[in-house]
Amino acid sequence: MKIVETFADARALGRGCVGLVPTMGYLHEGHISLIDAARSECDTVVVSLFVNPLQFGPNEDLASYPRDLDRDAALVEAARADVLFAPRLEVMYPDDPLTTVTVGDVTEGMEGARRPGHFDGVATVVAKLFAGIVPDRSYFGRKDAQQLVTVRRMVLDLSFPTIIVGAPIVREADGLALSSRNIFLDPRQRDAARSISRGLFAAAAAVTAGERSAREIEGITSAVVDGEAGIDLDYATLADQETAAPVTTLDRPAFLAVAASVGSTRLLDNIHIDPYEGGWVPDVGTRLREPSILYREA
Ligand code: PAF
Repeated sequence: MKIVETFADARALGRGCVGLVPTMGYLHEGHISLIDAARSECDTVVVSLFVNPLQFGPNEDLASYPRDLDRDAALVEAARADVLFAPRLEVMYPDDPLTTVTVGDVTEGMEGARRPGHFDGVATVVAKLFAGIVPDRSYFGRKDAQQLVTVRRMVLDLSFPTIIVGAPIVREADGLALSSRNIFLDPRQRDAARSISRGLFAAAAAVTAGERSAREIEGITSAVVDGEAGIDLDYATLADQETAAPVTTLDRPAFLAVAASVGSTRLLDNIHIDPYEGGWVPDVGTRLREPSILYREA
């Protein structure tokens, strides 16, 4: 595995079908599952690692976002990626960008409404990665469901020649969705955070049993999270997989998205719900058997 710092060097190492896994580092099994998917489908796997200041608001955790290049490089190598592209700030943004990407509508609700400018930052850096690396296939986790909708829409609108692959959420054995920010949770906060996946699993069971009303489905999840001390539910919203707009009835591919805060840590989770054999099937993702590598030192 080669570590490179410039787009030109990353591009020069691409052979055949190039798969890109964009990350902000502090990798966990969710990222590794994306690298695995890219490895099985592409000739060259490029993992990018860049904590993108453009997608953090002024009061968000840019300064404290976990960073450990040696740890990440070892994990990327073990996952058999070919290239780790870890640009410095000056390479990614040689100057304050005068050109940024705004993806309308799909970024207006949920995270977009609460984090002004967040999706402009995501879309801009992802557009730069697509332009600079020119991947044939690009891999994103479904955990950031609205981000996935945004990236898909940007690719459609701007004709980036890359196929977007969305991969299932990976969870701790107790159900907590993996996120680099989980390392900030103390044991009590971690307990409270589990209510998010419990709420989603309860909603998934209701969908499997035939529930189709968004209000009912959202209410099941909200009741579980609201019933737990030490966690503040922001929203539980059933949204369209293509537009991220709220839906009132489960009559199209959707995701039930949750955002909640535990102390100063904001957590996102969701289940995707797709049609299958005349019914609706919730995908709750996969679970680890052991504690995540998030807690493993370099
Ligand atoms: O999902 C992330 O880690 C980031 O938003 C991404 C896609 C790498 C862009 O900075």
